Amino acid sequence: MMKRKPTPISVATWNFPKATLKAGEMLYSGATALDAVEEGVKIEEANLKNTTVGKGGAPDREGNVTLDACIMAPNGDAGAVVYLKNNTHAVSVARKVMEETPHVMLAGEGADQFAQQQGFMKEELFTESSEKAYREWLKNKEYKPLINIENHDTIGMLCLDEKGDIAGACTSSGLSYKMNGRVGDSPIIGSGLFLDNEIGGAVATGMGEAIMKSVGSFLIVELMRQGKSPQEACETAVKRIIKQNPNYKDFQVAFLALNKNGDIGSYCIHEGYSYVEYRDNKNTNIPSKSYL
Ligand code: GLY
Repeated sequence: MMKRKPTPISVATWNFPKATLKAGEMLYSGATALDAVEEGVKIEEANLKNTTVGKGGAPDREGNVTLDACIMAPNGDAGAVVYLKNNTHAVSVARKVMEETPHVMLAGEGADQFAQQQGFMKEELFTESSEKAYREWLKNKEYKPLINIENHDTIGMLCLDEKGDIAGACTSSGLSYKMNGRVGDSPIIGSGLFLDNEIGGAVATGMGEAIMKSVGSFLIVELMRQGKSPQEACETAVKRIIKQNPNYKDFQVAFLALNKNGDIGSYCIHEGYSYVEYRDNKNTNIPSKSYL
């Protein structure tokens, strides 16, 4: 019997249709899941209006814009950067870490130094408007993570290519006005992103501390391995966070999962989170099911 060619899919957290469109069009032109996922999330890293990813991201309390990102390949290889200060495309630096070093993660000064050695131009990530917003914030210096901030947050993306391989990426400037040195879930393999090419993948967005404490993306892939659908696995992961955190109403966490059959699941704590799926030339924004 002839094996059916898989239908390529790109899917990403929140409403970032340009990112899934870029990745989806690449996949339908025969690109690998790894190339598509990198180019897809790069769209949001370069989007100056997006204050939670890449250039233009909100700074920490000291005024440093620091980026966290990771990427995973179908063969299980992974790369990550944390506290990257001088390059918009944290995901591409993470890919270089994966492909050009014996390591998985580089941090801070070392990550920036490595990026420049790899030919990335040094860039200023603070934009006029993020600096203006920061100056406003300094008036009260109130640290209060907002639920569904501007209706977006981290971009986590999963791609399934025509060979049936899955790759993923996750990139973020982290929580706005976080403590200097704070790193969230987004660059942590198993928390912001995990995949197993035999099973599927998962990505996360929202309050990184809660996601890290539950190793949420790894948990979802393992639950899918045990036979749960992507939807059931995402629901279990969110409910575990709810059980661990009596203050769960104070923050948002959302997971998105894709299995090898192209089934997608998504679940979050608060209503208002959605994801975009690109499949068969259709780019659709879909509201996620939520606990509350
Ligand atoms: N999920 C992004 C962060 O907490 O940094």
